Amino acid sequence: AVVTLKEIVDRAFAERYGVPAINIVNDLTLENVLSGAVEARSPVIVQTSVKTVKSIGAGVLYAMWESMTRGIEVPVTLHLDHCPERAVISQCLALGWNSVLFDASELPVEENLRQTIEVVAEARGYGAHVEGEIEAITGVEDDHGSDIEGRRQSLEVSLDFIRRTGVDVFAPAIGNAHGVYKHEPILDFQRVSDIVEAQPVPIALHGGSGMTDEQFTDLIARGCAKVNISTALKILFMRSMLENLRVAEESDKWDPPTLFRSVAADVRGLTVELATKFGSAGRA
Ligand code: 13P
Ligand code: ZN
Ligand code: NA
Repeated sequence: AVVTLKEIVDRAFAERYGVPAINIVNDLTLENVLSGAVEARSPVIVQTSVKTVKSIGAGVLYAMWESMTRGIEVPVTLHLDHCPERAVISQCLALGWNSVLFDASELPVEENLRQTIEVVAEARGYGAHVEGEIEAITGVEDDHGSDIEGRRQSLEVSLDFIRRTGVDVFAPAIGNAHGVYKHEPILDFQRVSDIVEAQPVPIALHGGSGMTDEQFTDLIARGCAKVNISTALKILFMRSMLENLRVAEESDKWDPPTLFRSVAADVRGLTVELATKFGSAGRA
């Protein structure tokens, strides 16, 4: 069934497993992230970037979500990823998105705090939930973010932000980055424990593509209940298309459904793999 983000992450946080939060890019990826979750008997968080919302259109995207999740047997939820635009947040909440990440990490902390409090109030009106971020996570995700080193805040500033805004999920910068890592990332594991011990809030782990299995396992045990994956799906999706197109060209057989079936199987496989790795498989 479609449930709230809070329902999914609170249980994962309490039982210390991670739930894949996967950025879909179109109907085919949406459909197969969902069927992968069903296959793995796992909850899943489906994420849409602002870019995806704008390219497909919020209304069409939401209609796809509604029709594809009708009668679904595992807990699923629809989340708007990194969104600095209040108008897009309002539009998605009004249509039925279950949660949003208000990304005001480019604003001064006080202004971020003030606006996050407003977004939380707005979301509550829809029974929806909010992920908060005060430190810009490095790397560019669908045009949002920057390549400069993430601006870190002190632990106290983070805790104060969590308490005063009442966000349901918190996304810290711990050396994680969007996109492909040039080297194995060096992560501040202790920061996750410090936050969770002082203020027990489920943590969102951004920049998941490229982290090692050991890093995932350690961070999930410390309280990262939502694990964001975007780049891995984009690369898989396009490589899968590319290989199928090569085969089409070599055999001179141009049958779109053959390509769709193959891409679908790959996306489903990635979702099952992530759910298994993060420990959410078999929980639904
Ligand atoms: P990656 O693109 O590195 O997987 O990061 C995903 C993410 O954090 C989406 O918000
Ligand atoms: Zn992110
Ligand atoms: Na990454």
